[in-house]
Amino acid sequence: MLYYITIGNMDRSFRIMEKKASSFSGQIGFVLAAAGSAVGVGNLWRFPYLAAKDGGGLFLLVYLVLVLTFGFTLLTSDIAIGRRTKQSAIRAYETMRPKWKFLGILTFLVPVLIMTYYAVIGGWITKYAAVYLTGQSAAAAEDGYFTSFITSPVSPVVFALLFMGVTAFIVYNGVEGGIERVSRYMMPILLVLVVVIAGYALTLRHEDASGQMRTGLEGLRYYLTPHMEGLTVSRFLQILLDAMSQLFFSLSVSMGIMITYGSYVKPDVDLNKAVNQIEIFDTGVALLAGAMIIPAVYVFSGTEGMSAGPSLMFVSLPKVFNAMGKAGMFVGILFFVTAIFATLTSCISVLESITANCMEIFHSGRKKTVLVLAVIYLAASAIIALGYSIFYFEVQLPNGSVGQLLDIMDYVSNSVMMPFIALLSTILIGWVMTPDYVIDEMQRNGETFRRKKLYRVMIRYVAPVMMLVLFLQSTGILA
Ligand code: PFF
Repeated sequence: MLYYITIGNMDRSFRIMEKKASSFSGQIGFVLAAAGSAVGVGNLWRFPYLAAKDGGGLFLLVYLVLVLTFGFTLLTSDIAIGRRTKQSAIRAYETMRPKWKFLGILTFLVPVLIMTYYAVIGGWITKYAAVYLTGQSAAAAEDGYFTSFITSPVSPVVFALLFMGVTAFIVYNGVEGGIERVSRYMMPILLVLVVVIAGYALTLRHEDASGQMRTGLEGLRYYLTPHMEGLTVSRFLQILLDAMSQLFFSLSVSMGIMITYGSYVKPDVDLNKAVNQIEIFDTGVALLAGAMIIPAVYVFSGTEGMSAGPSLMFVSLPKVFNAMGKAGMFVGILFFVTAIFATLTSCISVLESITANCMEIFHSGRKKTVLVLAVIYLAASAIIALGYSIFYFEVQLPNGSVGQLLDIMDYVSNSVMMPFIALLSTILIGWVMTPDYVIDEMQRNGETFRRKKLYRVMIRYVAPVMMLVLFLQSTGILA
């Protein structure tokens, strides 16, 4: 109580009190919500693709080492900054060092951009769930089905608006009553579903036209075996960079989301345990996603069948489900429901982060803020959803790929801004604030921060260099 009175500014004390009123109920609620943010389409459509492309078990090994060093460092920093400052990105960085407020603003802009297209992807997934639920799995497997869906000017907009509306509704209901409640149901169910689908994928067998029999277990072996043939230094570096960019997209770090979620964690929660559990959840789901997708694709299309992103989820997998016969329809339903849960819990974390920053800046209440943001993002989602029809145009991106509206937003937020923000934040924590700023928070209740030495070395030396290389590479400067 004394705390509020000594601030002496009614407006500001109201803001802090309101923020304090928002919190996760405890460790489990926080871990499931944060895992909900971390587990998303990245786990389902990017991780398996990269594992298949980058040498199977070799990629897995590199990824695991990076999770325990680099991922742990960035995740710990974000969550500790959030809980220590009790603020979202803009105010958090300003509280640490007023001159570094610009970094808070940059960080805030990442979810602002991501939000324009995340509900569009969520809408595509919802559409496919509806397609499988209504028994149209054969139609979904036809050539050109996905293209004709996204180039239609109505259906993608309707599904994007639906997904955006549900996301806004959950965030409107608050941290504990909305976000935590939804994550508590969806995350355990999601985990069970990926285990069930992966288990089923391992039992698959199929004989192709040339009479060659392929089994799910062979696919699993292909996924887990480290393929060292033809490994050169430059290929290894590419694998390292792929794993690194995947990792920090996957953990939702350097975009202010984990700072916001960290600000809702009660003081008595052991952050060391929470960070470990979030990492285990996110990495576990990624590994299981590989174990469900790689064997399934391998059985029906061989090792050449893997693609990334939308074309894996909406073109290759429907063909695989169709080839499974009757069971394919059920597997399709389970898979797209899993994907909806993964995407929805990520999408709410993006909107929550924007909401929390706006509430702090404009001193506004949650409900009003969410309503205004919902109107803005319903419009933005509709525009991006029309990026394949009415607003279609193509641009050459600096990393060599060709993209349209959605790809531009994705490229700017994930490939340019996120590594740049991570680089600056490691400099701020490692050199300006010094690592003790985070370490003290990790030991707040007398817990032992076991990877303390590792943390110091990573945040000061290794992570800044890695982020610089990643930034140069993804912007095309380091070709
Ligand atoms: N971490 C999510 C994934 O791996 O798919 C992606 C994500 C969630 C990105 C939330 C950005 C975001 F704001």
